[in-house]
Amino acid sequence: MCGIVGYVGARNATTLLVNGLKRLEYRGYDSAGVSLMNGQGVETRKAKGKIAMLEAAIEAQPIHGNIGIAHTRWATHGPPNECNAHPHHDCSGTISLVHNGIIENYSPLRAMLQKTGHTFVSDTDTEVLAHLIEAAFDGNLEEAVIDALALVEGTYGIAVISAKDPDKIVAARKGSPLLIGIGDGEHYVASDVAAILQHTRQVVYLDDGEMAILTRDSYRVCDLDAKTVKKGVSRIDWDLDKIEKGGFAHFMLKEIFEQPQTIENTMRGRSVDEDGFSKLGGLNLSKEFLQHLDQIIITACGTSWHSALIGELMIEEHARVRVEVEYASEFRYRNPIVSEQTLCVVISQSGETADTLAAMREAKRRGAKTLGLVNQVGSTIAREDDGGVYLHAGPEIGVASTKAFTSQVIALALLTLKLSRLRNMSVVQGREITQALAALPAQIQTILDSASDIEKIAEAFVDAENFLYLGRGYNFPVALEGALKLKEISYIHAEGYPAAEMKHGPIALIDENMPVVFIAPHDAVFDKVVSNVQEVKARGGRVIVITSREEPALAGKIDYEIRVPETIDMLYPVLTVIPLQLLAYYIAAKRGLNVDQPRNLAKSVTVE
Ligand code: F6R
Repeated sequence: MCGIVGYVGARNATTLLVNGLKRLEYRGYDSAGVSLMNGQGVETRKAKGKIAMLEAAIEAQPIHGNIGIAHTRWATHGPPNECNAHPHHDCSGTISLVHNGIIENYSPLRAMLQKTGHTFVSDTDTEVLAHLIEAAFDGNLEEAVIDALALVEGTYGIAVISAKDPDKIVAARKGSPLLIGIGDGEHYVASDVAAILQHTRQVVYLDDGEMAILTRDSYRVCDLDAKTVKKGVSRIDWDLDKIEKGGFAHFMLKEIFEQPQTIENTMRGRSVDEDGFSKLGGLNLSKEFLQHLDQIIITACGTSWHSALIGELMIEEHARVRVEVEYASEFRYRNPIVSEQTLCVVISQSGETADTLAAMREAKRRGAKTLGLVNQVGSTIAREDDGGVYLHAGPEIGVASTKAFTSQVIALALLTLKLSRLRNMSVVQGREITQALAALPAQIQTILDSASDIEKIAEAFVDAENFLYLGRGYNFPVALEGALKLKEISYIHAEGYPAAEMKHGPIALIDENMPVVFIAPHDAVFDKVVSNVQEVKARGGRVIVITSREEPALAGKIDYEIRVPETIDMLYPVLTVIPLQLLAYYIAAKRGLNVDQPRNLAKSVTVE
C-alpha cells in the first residue's frame, strides 16, 4: 500500500525518485516525500496529497543529490499531513528513513526514547525507527540499523540514509516487500518493481530477516546478524507499456479490455484439449497426494475470496473433494482443522496481502501443503508457498481487481480439471471443459465489443444510491463481485445476495428506486432465477438482467438486458462478470470519480 523507492548512483536522483513514486501511485497513498543527500547533509521535501503537490514543493525549493529515498504514505498512525509523511528523521536530522508496515511496539519504544531525550515531531510509528537508529549509531549505518531492528516488533520494509555514513542506502525487510534493482554503476531499492523498471530489469528480492547495503558500485545482502546471504538475481520479463494506459481513459478500463489476452495467458500450455487434461508445472504435489487429499481449504481476501467461492463450487462438483473457503483474516485467528492430507490453496493478485500470507503460514505450520494462485511474480506468497500457479495476467494497476479475477477463475478451473481427471472424471467430460475454456477469449471479446451498450445503461444509474446484485449457483459469487466493484469505485451502496435469499429480508428494500442486477445465464438454476426476477418486478424494482439467450419467460419483466455467450455452467462467471465490471466502471467514470485510485483504498493491503 505505501511505496518505497531509493537510488544511489551518479545521476541526479530527484526526478528519478519522483518518477518512481508516480509508478507506485496506483497502490494508493495520501502523502509523499523525498530525502536526498545534498553534499552537506540530508535534505527533505514532503507534501500532503498527490505527487503533484510534492513536485510543487520541490519546484518551490529545489533539492539535488545522487543518493536518496522517497515514499508514498497511506495513513495508519496519524492523519495524512506533511508532518506525518515520510521520510522521517532523528533529532539531529542526519538520518532519514522511509518505512512500509507497522511497528507494533512503537508506543513503549517512543516513551523509552523520550525519556532519554529524543524529541518526536510526528504521530507515526515510523519515527521511532529513525530515533532508534540514531541511538544505536556509532559510525556505521548498517550496524545501527541491525541494533535498532532488534528492538522492534511488527512489520517493516525500510530504506535509510545517513549524512554521517553518506555513500550508501541501507534497506531491510520483515513482512513488507522490498527488492534491489541492479544498474550499471547505480543501485535501486523499491517496494514494487514498477518503480524502477524504467531503469533496470535485474532485481534481487529480499526475504524476511534480510538487509541490503547499496552503494554506487556494489550491493550486499546479509541477515540481521550481519552474515552475508547469497541471493539469486531475477530478470523481469514484462515491459513498461504494461503499466501504462495505452490510450484508455483509466487503467481499470484497459485491464477490463485486456481480458481476452490475459485469460489466454493463464491457460497457455496448460489446457490439453485432446486429453481433456490440464498441465500445471509448478504444483510440486505428487499424483498420490492429489488423488488422496481429503480436504481443500481456499483462503483469500476481497475479490480473490470471490474467485475462491467459485473454485469451491467447481472442485466439489467435479473433483468431489470437500472444500472450505475462508476469509484469510478469519482463518488466521481461529483454530481450523487441518491435516497432512489438506491442501491449502491461497489466492492473491499481489501475493503480498498480509492476512492471506499469514493464513498461508498458519496452514503450513499445521501441516497442510500450500498452493498459491498468484499474479505478481516473485511476491512473498509465490516464494513461500509449496507449489504455485502463476496467473500471468500481467501487472494490475487499477485498484479494483478485474483481470486478476478472471485469471483466478481460469486457474481454479485448470486445478479442478487436474484433480478431477486424476480422481473421477472421464476424458469426454474433461474435453468438454478444455473446449469451453478455449472458446472463452473470443467470447469475452464479443461482450467487450458491446461495451457502448453497457455504457448507455450506466447513464441511467449514475445517480443511484443503492444497488442489489442477485445470482445463484456459480453466479452468486459473481453477484458479490459485481456489488464489490460498484461500491469500491462509485461509492454507491451495493450488496450481493443469493437470489432466493432475497425473500428473507432484502425484498423489503425493493421499490422503484432500487436497481436490481440479476446474473442469470442459462445454467442449471436459470428457471429458479426467473421466478426471483418476477418477484422483484412485481414490487416495482428496476431490473437489469445478464443472460445468455433470448428468453420468453423474461419478456416484459426486465428493464435492461445484457447478453453474454453460452458456455458450461462452471465457466459462466468468466463471462458474466465482464458486464458487471463495465457497468461499475462506467457508472463511476460518469460520476467523475478517480476510478483507478478510489478513496481509502490501496492496491495491496500489506497491513493487518
Ligand atoms: C477489490 C480488490 C480487493 C483485493 C483484496 C485482495 O477490487 O482488489 O478486494 O482483491 O485486497 O488482494 P490480493 O488479491 O492482492 O490478495
